[in-house]
Amino acid sequence: MKVNVLFSTAAMALAMLATTQANAKEPIEPIRPVQDVNLAQVELGKKLYFDPRLSKSGFISCNSCHNLSMGGTDNLKTSIGHNWHQGPINAPTVLNSSLNFVQFWDGRAADLKAQAGGPIANPGEMAFTHTLAVDVLQSIPGYVHEFKQVYGKDKIDIDMVTTAIAEFEKTLVTPNSRFDRWLLGDKSALNADELAGYQLFKNSGCVACHNGPAVGGNSFQKMGVVQPYKAKSPAEGRVAVTGKDADRFMFKVPTLRNVEMTYPYFHDGEAETLTEAVDIMGRLQLGKRFSGKENRQIVAFLKTLTGDQPAFQMPILPPSSEKTPAPKPFE
Ligand code: HEC
Ligand code: HEC
Repeated sequence: MKVNVLFSTAAMALAMLATTQANAKEPIEPIRPVQDVNLAQVELGKKLYFDPRLSKSGFISCNSCHNLSMGGTDNLKTSIGHNWHQGPINAPTVLNSSLNFVQFWDGRAADLKAQAGGPIANPGEMAFTHTLAVDVLQSIPGYVHEFKQVYGKDKIDIDMVTTAIAEFEKTLVTPNSRFDRWLLGDKSALNADELAGYQLFKNSGCVACHNGPAVGGNSFQKMGVVQPYKAKSPAEGRVAVTGKDADRFMFKVPTLRNVEMTYPYFHDGEAETLTEAVDIMGRLQLGKRFSGKENRQIVAFLKTLTGDQPAFQMPILPPSSEKTPAPKPFE
């Protein structure tokens, strides 16, 4: 890792230097504080992220399923969509999602901008269309004004909407976890059990798949390497995108950042606790049975990955006008 001249403060550069020197060989890297974002787009994107009027019901926003008060998830096995539709798969966290190499469990969206259009038009999620969503925004004077300020245009389009949401999502990083402070040289940041848990995580081979700043999010891997996983849902992962048999049960490795907050676990949400998830990972991915003590230590380590949660004022949304199409919550 080299020191990036773009970092504005000397403190940041020093921190990076400290990482380079002290922990050059660690497979996990600290989360960097947010940088290089377009602040006007971020503010607009934040409003859109919280605005339920992007859904048919006028009731479901991105935050309904990716609740920023709860680790960017809904803490449900699978999500509840329009008309109480039962979702097919567990909602991953939006926290640090800008670090994912692709989006969704099966990687079908290349980046956050490509992802953001999906839920609005998904009949089982927000159940709207892009045209209707844009019509709603265009009928709200406060939005017309703000889009004009941000993009210099009177006419709103879906591209502007997804760009702004993606820019806001870039700010949802969680630096300064206890583990990152340890990585950056504060040896008192972890206790003995947590450190032992990290050693087990490293030496047992978890880091083969869970590495980098997000402790995951950078490869597709098979769920059930040593022993097959008996899933309760029909999702089969990457094969849905490529059609290749070899991609059956290949999923994007989830980030383990803030994993203490993002229960339940796995794409089908079947593991309710970290204890269970660690036990299953040990057996299915590595052919290892952890003792009760080892499991507790790994879980203790995983809990040190909780970083500073995004903090901001709740956005106040511009009111609808007489021209705004009425929401249809019960259709
Ligand atoms: C009804 C619940 C629901 C709503 C509303 C919703 N999402 Fe999601 N989101 C999900 C689920 C479920 C997935 C996983 C789908 C999959 O992988 O097939 C997901 C995946 C994602 C991902 C990919 C994360 C990753 O690790 O791959 C991002 C980013 C995301 N959503 C952002 C958004 C944004 C932005 C909005 C609003 C425009 C939104 N979501 C609205 C449930 C929802
Ligand atoms: C061969 C790659 C691989 C190895 C090795 C591996 N994992 Fe995973 N891990 C995955 C994949 C893929 C998933 C998602 C599986 C799914 O949802 O079906 C996952 C999911 C998880 C989850 C659930 C996260 C969530 O948000 O749902 C935890 C916790 C976890 N792993 C911890 C570990 C631990 C601890 C180890 C070592 C004992 C480990 N993993 C080893 C690939 C791996």
